[in-house]
Amino acid sequence: MENIELINKLNYSGELDFEEFKHLLSTYDQKDFEYAKELAAKITKKIFGNKIYIRGLIEISSYCKNDCYYCGLRRSNLKAVRYRLNKDEILLSCKEGYKLGFRTFVLQGGEDLYYQDELMVDIIKSIRQLYPDCAITLSLGEKSKETYKKYYDAGANRYLLRHETYNEDHYYMLHPHSMSFKKRIECLHNLKEIGFQTGCGFMVGSYHQTIDHLVNDLLFIKELKPEMVGVGPYLVHHDTPFKDLKNGKLNQTLFILSIIRIMTKDVLLPATTALATLDSNGRIEGIKHGCNVVMPNLSPQEVREKYLLYDNKAIIGQEASEGLKELIETLRYNGYEVVYQRGDYCKFDYKG
Ligand code: 5AD
Repeated sequence: MENIELINKLNYSGELDFEEFKHLLSTYDQKDFEYAKELAAKITKKIFGNKIYIRGLIEISSYCKNDCYYCGLRRSNLKAVRYRLNKDEILLSCKEGYKLGFRTFVLQGGEDLYYQDELMVDIIKSIRQLYPDCAITLSLGEKSKETYKKYYDAGANRYLLRHETYNEDHYYMLHPHSMSFKKRIECLHNLKEIGFQTGCGFMVGSYHQTIDHLVNDLLFIKELKPEMVGVGPYLVHHDTPFKDLKNGKLNQTLFILSIIRIMTKDVLLPATTALATLDSNGRIEGIKHGCNVVMPNLSPQEVREKYLLYDNKAIIGQEASEGLKELIETLRYNGYEVVYQRGDYCKFDYKG
C-alpha cells in the first residue's frame, strides 16, 4: 500500500498493523509528511476547533532516586543542582498561576522520597480546596497503586507517566536494572484503573531507538487508550552517559505527533518544552501537526534553571508563564486561541 493510503487507513480504522506502521515510518517522504500534517490539523480542528489548552507546570523537585541514562536529574549526576519546593511554595505557584488564568496545575518532579504520602496528600487536598475549579495533574513517577489511589482520593485528576519505550530490551538501554519495565507498564494500568486521566509517552530519537521500537510505542498507545500522550525529541544533557549522542529530529517528532493525532483522534497532546527547545518554531509546528496543549512554566523563577532534564532548556519567553501574553499572540497570529478552561479529556465520536 502507498503511504498516503496507509495514512487514510489509519484515519478511518484507527489502526494499522505492525508491518503497515513499519512501512509508513521507514519510508515516508515529504509529501506523506505534509499529508499527515494536514490531516492531523483537520482532525484537531474538528474536535477542538482552534482552541489550545494551557497548563501551568510547577517543577516541584529536582531530586531523583532514579538513574535514567538520558536525564540530567539522574541520581549519579553530582553536578545537578538540587532543590525542592515545600507546600507553601507550591501553593504560591498555584496562586500566581490562578491569577494568570491557569485552571490546570501540573506538579512534576523527580522521584523524591521527601514527599511521603501524607505530605503529598496534604498538598493535593489544599490545592483542591483552594482551587475547586482547577484540574490537578501529577507527574511524579512510579508509586504503588495504594499511593496513586490516595492521590486520586485527595483530589488529583490526571497523571503523566511516560512509558519511555514499549520494548523491554530497549527499556534497559535507557534505564538501569534497578528500574523495571514491567513495573512501569503496571503503573500505567493502575492509574487507568483508579480513574486518572492518564498520559503515557516517549522520546523520539532516544539511544538505540529503532523504527520497530517506535511502532511498538504506537501500538501500545492504541492498546492503553491514554487520555494524554507526551512525545518530544530526545535532547542531550552534557552530564549524562548519553552526552555524545545526537538530539532527536524535529521532522520525525512532528510526523509521529501527527500520526498519533490521526490514530487517537481526541487525545490531549502537548507541544512539549523539548520540542520548543529543539527548534525556535518547535512549539507552533507541533500545534500545526496536531498538538492541542501547551504547558508554560509556573515554577518560581529561581528554580527553573535547576530543573534541567536536558541542555539549553527553554525557560524564558513563551515557555514561561510571564511570557503568556507573547505565547497567546503567537498562537493567535497562527489562527489559534488559548482557552482558560480545565480542558479535561472528553471522548469525541469522530466521523471522518
Ligand atoms: N531529553 C528529552 N526528554 C527527556 N526526558 C527526560 N530526559 C530527557 C532528555 N534528555 C523526558 C522523559 C521523562 C519526561 C519527564 O522528560 O521522557 O519522562
